[in-house]
Amino acid sequence: MNPTLADKIARAPKAELHIHIEGSLEPELIFQLAQRNGVKLAYESIDALRAAYAFTDLQSFLDIYYAGASVLLHEQDFYDMTTAYVERALADHVTHAEIFFDPQTHTERGVPMETVVAGIERALADGEKRGMTSKLILCFLRHLSEEDALATFDSALPLFDQYRHRLIGVGLDSSEQGHPPSKFERVFAKARDKGLKLVAHAGEEGPPAYVYEALDLLKVDRVDHGVRSIEDPALVARLADARIALTVCPLSNLKLCVFDDMTRHTLKDLLDRGVAVMVNSDDPAYFGGYVNANYFAIVDALKLSEDEVYTLLKNSLEASFVTPAERDAMVANLDAYWHAAA
Ligand code: ADE
Ligand code: ZN
Repeated sequence: MNPTLADKIARAPKAELHIHIEGSLEPELIFQLAQRNGVKLAYESIDALRAAYAFTDLQSFLDIYYAGASVLLHEQDFYDMTTAYVERALADHVTHAEIFFDPQTHTERGVPMETVVAGIERALADGEKRGMTSKLILCFLRHLSEEDALATFDSALPLFDQYRHRLIGVGLDSSEQGHPPSKFERVFAKARDKGLKLVAHAGEEGPPAYVYEALDLLKVDRVDHGVRSIEDPALVARLADARIALTVCPLSNLKLCVFDDMTRHTLKDLLDRGVAVMVNSDDPAYFGGYVNANYFAIVDALKLSEDEVYTLLKNSLEASFVTPAERDAMVANLDAYWHAAA
C-alpha cells in the first residue's frame, strides 16, 4: 500500500465496534496473570502458547480462547486486561470502542459478574480520560442453553442499571454452527423490552439463514461478521436498505479460515452493494493485529481506494451506539482530519 495512505489510515479517528475484551489478552499477560493467580496452564511457555495459535476454524480458536480466559479471577485482572486494550486502541487512534465481554466464561468458574464488570469499567473510565469513549455489550455464549442465557440476563439486571452509562446492550457469540439465533429469541425479547441495544454474531461460519434469524427473530441493530450474507443477494439488498451495519473482522476471517486468502474477502462486494461495513479486530491478541493492522490487511488485499477507506471509517462512527449529537461530532472530527491530511 502507498505509505501516505497507510499513514493517513493509521492516524484517522475511528470507532471499533467488534472487539471481545477476552480476545485482547496477549500471551505475555496470560502468563503473568497465571503466575499471579496460581493458575496452571496447559502450555509450558509463552512461545508454546503462541505456537498453538494455528486455527483451522472457529471452534479450534474458541477452545484456546476459553483456556486463556481461565487466568482472569480478580477485579484487577479485568482492569489490567482492559487497560492493555485501551492502550493498543489509543495507539491506533480509536476514539470510540464498543466492547464485548462473555460473563458466562467467568461466572461458570465462580467469578462474580460484578467483579468482571467493575474491573472493565474502571479501565474504561480511565480510558475516557485518555481520549477513548466506550460502551460495553454483554454477550451470551450460544453453545450454552437459552436457560443459562436467561439466568445470566436476570443476574445482570442490577448491573444494567448501575452501569447504564456503559453497559448498553447484549450480543451473541461462541460456536455458531448448530446454535442458530432462534435458540435465543426469548432472552433477546427480554433485552429488547429493557431498551437495550441488540447485536449477534451471524453469517461468520453460519449460513445466510442465520443472518435472517438475527434480523427477524432477535431484531438486532447490527450484525457481527455477516460476511456470508453475500451468498444471498436479497439479504444483501435488505441489509443495505435498512442500513444494518456488519462489523467485519478481516484478520479474524483469515485466521479462522472463513476465507482462504484475504484477496477473496467479501468486504468490497458488500461495500459496493451499499452495505454499511467497517473494519474491526475481533480478538486481536489471537489473530495477529489490532484495528489498524486489520485496515492495512484488507486495504492492501482488496486494493481499496482512499474514498472507500473513508467510507469504512465513517461507517464505523455512524454505526456506533452513541447519541446523534455524539455521532455527528465524531463524523465532523473525521472529516476535518481526512480533508486536512495529505
Ligand atoms: N468469541 C470471540 N471471538 C469470536 C468469534 N470470532 N466468533 C464467535 N465467537 C467469538
Ligand atoms: Zn467476534
